[in-house]
Amino acid sequence: MPLDPHIGAEFLKTKAPGFSPKVGIILGSGLGGLADQIDEVASVEFSEIPEFPQSSVEGHQGRLILGRLGGMPIICMQGRIHLYEGVDPQDLAVPIRVMKLIGVEFLLVTNAAGSFHEEVGPGSLMLISDHINFTSRNPLIGENDDRFGPRFFSMEDAYDPTLREHLKAVAKELDIKLTEGVYLHYPGPNFETPAEIRAFKTLGADAVGMSTTPEVLVARHCGMRVAGISNITNLVAGMSKTTLSHEQTLECAKLAASDLEKLVTIFLETLKRELLKAHLKEDSNGNN
Ligand code: HPA
Repeated sequence: MPLDPHIGAEFLKTKAPGFSPKVGIILGSGLGGLADQIDEVASVEFSEIPEFPQSSVEGHQGRLILGRLGGMPIICMQGRIHLYEGVDPQDLAVPIRVMKLIGVEFLLVTNAAGSFHEEVGPGSLMLISDHINFTSRNPLIGENDDRFGPRFFSMEDAYDPTLREHLKAVAKELDIKLTEGVYLHYPGPNFETPAEIRAFKTLGADAVGMSTTPEVLVARHCGMRVAGISNITNLVAGMSKTTLSHEQTLECAKLAASDLEKLVTIFLETLKRELLKAHLKEDSNGNN
């Protein structure tokens, strides 16, 4: 039996009664620092949540935080569950569906990734314009749950063009370099071989990592608007002088962590203002 997200959602509602987050944030490897900036309303370990998949990777604290960032009500996953941990891919739908059930409309995913471009090295941020799911897995394979979305749906503009423009504008304002590119999801747990990297380059990848596509597929299926940012921790295998390792990823994730924190916080502030404006416009239209 697949895990039931309704049970986790009901549990979270008891932890923060009346609190309805609009934005879900998933923090990738080494980006847990952003969690400290949250004005916390409640937080729970993944292990406390009934019917919730569990993470086993060092450096991925499994915690869900409800609170405010940039004034915006959010829910933040500090740590995530990966396909390479051997979980049933369908279980990866659960965190996103729990978010949906408690009110989330926007999802901001972050990850650590290797870059294919010399000029976009460790310490850079890359806005995800599109992805290649190279895992051959998908949490949506199996019986469709019509309560969340249709059997078949489009993945064009999965990374919302308007949100991307907002993020680029905020980055410019903050003088943070933000390139844009295609993220390829490699299943892991090993890093890629140089031959695989050469193949992925011809496929059109700009960055490679071991996460994100399951969450984005599930979020788009249930109609969330998605944005994604890769924190570049290394140049890809064959381009880098250092041997790739998880320790190296965690160490280099720190390089852009403060840029990412600023970018996300100010982005949420502007999103809140935009939503408020749209809401007021709707109201005044309704009153006419
Ligand atoms: N490959 C896969 N996953 C990664 C990498 C990489 O080069 N860097 C950080 N996560």
